Amino acid sequence: MKYQHHLFVCTNQKSGVGSDVAKALKKELKKQDLKSLLVGGKKRKNRVQTVGCLDVCKHCKKGDGAALVLYPEGIWYGDVHPKDAADIVHDHLGAERPVKRLVIEK
Ligand code: FES
Repeated sequence: MKYQHHLFVCTNQKSGVGSDVAKALKKELKKQDLKSLLVGGKKRKNRVQTVGCLDVCKHCKKGDGAALVLYPEGIWYGDVHPKDAADIVHDHLGAERPVKRLVIEK
């Protein structure tokens, strides 16, 4: 697999919060030096991508944050704000511990 983690962030809000979350996640990946990793001698990337609606709008469009899904785990986060990016990158991508306060059931 090319990616260690692949994050898809909904950008279907009028406020633009999803785009801001994606930018904050990308910034944190660089800051925390987790954009690419060496795993078992192979280079793996953590990639953030913006997408349209993820069909969990009650955790996204109606709140003031954005929804995102993180693979390969298939963990869903809701009502995410740019200020949450550091925890998602540090705890989930770095330490493999989902950020429980943001996890939603799909
Ligand atoms: S608007 Fe974000 S999941 Fe639907």
